[in-house]
Amino acid sequence: MYEKIIDSAIKAKKQSYSPFSKFKVGVALLTGKGRIYTGGNVESSSFSLTVCAEKSAAVKAINDNDMVFKAIAIATNSGDFEFPCGACRQFLSEFSDNMDIILVKSKNDYRIFKLQNLLPHKFKLKKKG
Ligand code: THU
Repeated sequence: MYEKIIDSAIKAKKQSYSPFSKFKVGVALLTGKGRIYTGGNVESSSFSLTVCAEKSAAVKAINDNDMVFKAIAIATNSGDFEFPCGACRQFLSEFSDNMDIILVKSKNDYRIFKLQNLLPHKFKLKKKG
């Protein structure tokens, strides 16, 4: 079902700019419009300015007016399953209450979680206007 984004996430590790941590993250985000947005983590000499791969891909989609997220596949070079950080869970949750989060170890070795299970009781601000 998610073969395409799993493959795209693995390939997206090449997009990672991570000279400081050497921890490469590649993601592929599937939207309601059926498009796939990829992203890699982007580090900064001023460490706290680093942008996670999930956020990079999400920003691309939103700037394309693609506002509904269905699933995101996350691959890294750690050789293990890596969960998205808390900040990324919150950021993604703005555009989907319960998307699938797919942790990818390799093409045929992955686990699927629901965002709501990874981020219960998310912070939510009422939209105005
Ligand atoms: N990173 C991500 O890209 N996504 C996450 O959810 C957690 C961490 C990146 C940030 C940094 O470049 C590196 O992984 C190590 O923290």
